[in-house]
Parts: sequence; structure tokens; C-alpha cells
Amino acid sequence: MNVFPLLFRQQFAPAFQDGHGREIGYLRISVVDRCNLRCHYCRPETGQFHALPREKILRFEEIERVARLAISLGVEKIRITGGEPLVRKGLIGFIERLSALPGLRDLTLSTNAVLLKPYAQPLYDAGVKRINISLDTLDAPTFAQLTGGRISDVLAGIDAAQTAGFTPIRINAVLMKDNNITQATELIDFCARQQLELRFIELMPMREGMDWQQHYYPISAFMARPEIIERINFDIITPQGNAAARYFPLRDGTGRVGFIEPMSRHFCAACNRLRLTADGKLRPCLSADNEVDLRASLRNASTDDDILQLIRQTTAGKQATSTYVFDQSGRQRSMIAIGG
Ligand code: GTP
Ligand code: 5AD
Ligand code: SF4
Repeated sequence: MNVFPLLFRQQFAPAFQDGHGREIGYLRISVVDRCNLRCHYCRPETGQFHALPREKILRFEEIERVARLAISLGVEKIRITGGEPLVRKGLIGFIERLSALPGLRDLTLSTNAVLLKPYAQPLYDAGVKRINISLDTLDAPTFAQLTGGRISDVLAGIDAAQTAGFTPIRINAVLMKDNNITQATELIDFCARQQLELRFIELMPMREGMDWQQHYYPISAFMARPEIIERINFDIITPQGNAAARYFPLRDGTGRVGFIEPMSRHFCAACNRLRLTADGKLRPCLSADNEVDLRASLRNASTDDDILQLIRQTTAGKQATSTYVFDQSGRQRSMIAIGG
């Protein structure tokens, strides 16, 4: 292990900042653009979505190289996403190698948990110590209708994650009018009982997927619902830092609930992230398609310095604020291809 460059970077290198003075420390890596579910807000129905051919997807060694270089610049936190990351073969070995990279402080993963039961312990042992799980409702028929999956698989995955020792385990629930709003209290109570950290998320308008105009439900309206106020104390705010979520305590003292408001309350001023898509594009902002192709450079004779230069350039060009506006037009890529 060559620690000198890392020590050098930590002591002497300039901070890794974008063109707006924001320090970049978080890389979200999508390892696959396929998924075993069909959430309506994420992807079109079968037939419309074409997963990329294998040769267009970055090999694990290529991803590792980008991760190592990003860490040498200042990235300290990596999140593995998809599609659904657990459908990619060889993931555990890849995670083991990533977690051994010097300088990485936080390695985590976002999953739908359908396949988590057998994977939870190996993931934990490989170096992922916390995990985020998507779960929009506890109602089995609604879950099946929204995702095409079985809720019992997800609950078994959560159970296995608890046994393995992940801390915290976060649950992501996207709010959708006419779908799961009235089922939110069940989720709150379940998560409090199970010591899971629940976060509600505003629906974002992707190019494909569910009709955003029809289903968007602002967090402000959610926070005003009597059954929610009864459970959550909105008078006590905890500092948000770089996190997308702001958190409020449960009134009964059993935990806290987070709120992510990508539409109505942008957290761009504190944005610290870059995204690497499964097909090797570096994406400076979730909301805009101005990606830079790293794959071509990874597959020609480019040196590490060439790649570092591309990462720096992309970072310097990060836009100041999200381009999420209240319509669905303009974006070319669906969420499943980006990884959230
Ligand atoms: P923690 O590290 O646990 O705080 O997780 P996270 O919120 O960074 O990641 P997660 O994959 O759990 O994402 C939760 C939700 O926040 C998803 O709906 C993401 O699409 C959304 N999200 C994450 N980062 C950004 C961002 O930079 N911009 C916007 N608009 N949404 C984001
Ligand atoms: N709006 C908000 N969140 C979304 N996610 C996927 N698609 C959308 C969308 N259109 C969430 C998933 C997952 C996270 C990574 O992104 O629920 O928890
Ligand atoms: Fe799959 Fe996650 Fe998209 Fe649902 S939101 S289809 S689980 S990638």
C-alpha cells in the first residue's frame, strides 16, 4: 500500500473544490443500469427501457481506478448505487477492494433490498457498514403495484441487515399523491419500532416514469398533516451539513425522521457530490445531463493524470443549483440509469 501520496494530498494538496467554492467529498457510483424491480417513478415499463450492452458498462477495475483517483483528489465517501447494485455479479469482491483504498472513510450502498437477505453479511464483512433501503409503503398490494416486487423479500432483507449489524439502516420513501401518503404513519411507526432511520423524499420529475404533475406531493403539505404532526416534532431542527435530508425528532423519543426536498427546498449550496454512471460518464449534478465521458479515456492509453484532469474539469463545471423545475421536460436519462 502506497500511503505517501495520500499523506501528501492530505497535508499539501489544495482542497478539491468546484467552481462555486463547494468542497467535493462524495462520489456516487452506479455499478449497473439494470434492476429487479419496476418502480413507476424510476423507470418505464418493460419493453421501453433497454439496459446497455455489457461492453458499455464499466468493468470493476475501471471503476476502481476512477475511485482511487477521486479519493486522491479529496473524495472520502462513496455510495454504490444502480439500477439495483446487488444484481451485478462479483459485487462483493469489488467492495472488498474498494474498502481497502486508503483515504476512503465511508463506503455505503443504496438498494431495494429484494436480494439483500443472502448478501447482507458478506457486504458487511466486505466493508459496507451502513446501508440505505428503498421502501415506499408497508402495504403489500400497494408495494406490488408500485414496484412489481414482493414486500416479504424486502422485509427479509431488512431483517438480515439488522442481524449483520449495519448502522444506521436508512429507509427511503418517495411520497406519491394517490399512492402511499395515507400509509406513511405505518412506515413511521414500523421504523421507530425497528430502529430504522426513515426519510421521506419528494418525487422528482424524470424523463420517463410516473406522471410527475399528477403524483408530486410537497413535503410542506405532508408536514401539515395532523397524523404526521402528532408523531414528529417540527420545532426541533438538527443541522443538515452536506446531507440531502433534514431531520426532526419523533415526539415519543424513539428516533428521528428525515425529509429530502429536491423540488421545493434545494440543498445545492451544500452539495458535495459527483456521480459516476454505470456506462462511465461523470455527472456533475443529478438534475442535468451535462456528463463527461470517462469510459473512452479509461479504455485508451490515457494516463492517471489525464483522467484526473477530466475529473477536475467536470468538477469545476458543476452548476450552482439544481435544474429541477416543476416540469418533466428536458432530461434525457431516467433515474435507473443514474442511480438517484
Ligand atoms: P446518506 O449518505 O445516507 O445521507 O444518503 P443520500 O441521501 O446521500 O443517498 P440516497 O441514495 O439514500 O438518496 C436519497 C434520495 O436523495 C434519493 O431520492 C436521491 O435521488 C436523492 N438525492 C441524493 N443526492 C442528491 C442530489 O445531489 N440532488 C438531488 N436533487 N437529490 C439527491
Ligand atoms: N424521485 C425521487 N426519488 C427517487 N428515487 C428513484 N426515483 C426517484 C424519483 N423520481 C429514489 C429511490 C431510492 C433512491 C436512490 O432514489 O427511492 O431510494
Ligand atoms: Fe429499481 Fe431503485 Fe429504480 Fe426501484 S427505484 S426500479 S428499486 S433502481
